[in-house]
Amino acid sequence: MTSSRAETAGPFRPRRATVIRVNEEHFAVNRANWDERAPAHAASPDYAVEAFVADPAHISEVVRFDLPRLGDVAGLRGVHLQCHIGTDTISLARLGASMTGLDFSPASVAQARKIAARAGNDVTFVESNVYDAPEVLGREGFDLVFTGVGALCWLPDVRRWARVVAALLRPGGRLFLREGHPMMWTIDENRDDALVVRYPYFEQAEPTAFDEPGTYVETDAEFVHNETRDWSHGLGEIVTGLLDAGMELTMLEEHDSVPWDALPGRMRGERNEWRLVEHPERLPLSYTLQAVKRR
Ligand SMILES: C[S@@+](CC[C@H](N)C(=O)[O-])C[C@H]1O[C@@H](n2cnc3c(N)ncnc32)[C@H](O)[C@@H]1O
Repeated sequence: MTSSRAETAGPFRPRRATVIRVNEEHFAVNRANWDERAPAHAASPDYAVEAFVADPAHISEVVRFDLPRLGDVAGLRGVHLQCHIGTDTISLARLGASMTGLDFSPASVAQARKIAARAGNDVTFVESNVYDAPEVLGREGFDLVFTGVGALCWLPDVRRWARVVAALLRPGGRLFLREGHPMMWTIDENRDDALVVRYPYFEQAEPTAFDEPGTYVETDAEFVHNETRDWSHGLGEIVTGLLDAGMELTMLEEHDSVPWDALPGRMRGERNEWRLVEHPERLPLSYTLQAVKRR
């Protein structure tokens, strides 16, 4: 018996449509959270916006941390995915790259544009879901994709993200990713007596839902959009996603520090890098990954 393409594809259509709709709802929850926090982040001393304005050579601590790994970016066409208020994007522009920042939060993009104008840097900021980036920015137009520091956890499907990265890069172009370690994300933030695994390590279809009033920077602002939905992605899932998307791994370095106070009460911060006070050798907290698109 033969069956037409329409017949065989039929049963899958509703499921895919449902997944997209459900993810859109999750994205809307997260976008509201980020929109509300963006102005507070721009006003917080932790994002050091006034230092960008006062000193044209100032770059963010996040980019500074990775300077030895980043290499020369001068002249590269770069895109920063999930750029938030653009301080890392501006930092890369200050290192000589021609930068575009992309984020789905209109308030974040508005802050990023304002900061770049005040700082005197010519950076393009675009409002878009990261999954739509190749359609919005074009394919294979970038030498460098930069992303990370609390970015991948907002994405339900890391393999799809990897395909986006590969689509944006020209052959031979490079991904630079610094991210919170998936093992760190599993740890119960409310237990200060032991490192207890509480959250998923492997990617799950359903997100983990949180309802938290604060944010990760110093601020007096009060928020009402406190719900978030996030997803974990194991290190193997991230690497395999990139390999399957046509990328070649060129660096994977795990760090015992992370650029925010990820496990409050158990960490000590210095120059924006936070380490476990006790036994920092027991848990990787972040990693830097580089990969190149195969020619
Ligand atoms: C923690 S911030 C990124 C951190 C950035 N490194 C920083 O500190 O400036 C996360 C950003 O991801 C953005 N984001 C979350 N989900 C997204 C999606 N699906 N598409 C595009 N941007 C997204 C949020 O709007 C937010 O600005």
